[in-house]
Amino acid sequence: MATENVQGKPNYGIDAPGLLGFFFIAGAVALTISLVILFSSTFGQIPKIIGGVLFGIAATYLLGMGCFMLYGSKVMKLKDREKLLDLVQWSGSEFVLDVGCGRGLMLIGAAKRLTSGKAIGIDLWQQEDQANNSSDAALSNAEVEGVTERVEIKTADMRQLPFPDDSFDAVVSSWAVHNLEAETDREKALDEIIRVLKPNGIVVLSDIVYQLEYAKYFELRGMTNIRLYNNAIRDVILKAVTFGSFAPSAVLAYKSA
Ligand SMILES: C[S@@+](CC[C@H](N)C(=O)[O-])C[C@H]1O[C@@H](n2cnc3c(N)ncnc32)[C@H](O)[C@@H]1O
Repeated sequence: MATENVQGKPNYGIDAPGLLGFFFIAGAVALTISLVILFSSTFGQIPKIIGGVLFGIAATYLLGMGCFMLYGSKVMKLKDREKLLDLVQWSGSEFVLDVGCGRGLMLIGAAKRLTSGKAIGIDLWQQEDQANNSSDAALSNAEVEGVTERVEIKTADMRQLPFPDDSFDAVVSSWAVHNLEAETDREKALDEIIRVLKPNGIVVLSDIVYQLEYAKYFELRGMTNIRLYNNAIRDVILKAVTFGSFAPSAVLAYKSA
């Protein structure tokens, strides 16, 4: 029996809480400095305006990034989940794996589309990647969403999946693989995803960076019908304002028969 989430609403958590905290604290500091400069009598008029405006711009950017990260975790990711899972032709009997399931976002979204199938989530529960993630938190969300009997959670590393070859009809993942810093580790995770997929199985790999790297690697490994699913305008804007570090989109691909 899960122990969290008694209010009747799922809570899919906040990603990268350390970075989020940095943006809000640094933004508040920059805003304070900007106001102190603007209202101080120590500086002349021109240095006051230049200093105040520069720190004001920095504060706006940092606080904006913080707000945007919150929006990403709490709103954007949930909307993207529905759009992405709707791209899969579900029969209801699928076996689905969610790689880096966290508090169960994709896992539960997939489970809601199943009738006789099962959705399994794996994670290492790294708190720096998502606040308060745990198998209990994921199970609690599954309970709230009414899919407990179709969900299973395991603790495992995505670079070494504890499943036999050709186990899953679909592998889904959201904002998880980029947490592996080394490209070779990300490739290990992709190799594992391909290994556990059944022939003709589909992978829906959503992330905030490295999507082209994933698509190229899938091609190298013989996956078929590889396509990038994104919102082109959102992609351009986000890449520009975050210097390419945060532009969610997904790669879809099939394992050849
Ligand atoms: C940003 S969170 C996203 C969680 C969830 N997929 C979502 O969209 O809400 C990334 C997740 O990947 C997990 N993770 C990071 N490295 C992992 C690894 N090597 N194996 C399994 N999970 C990992 C973290 O613990 C974290 O829960």
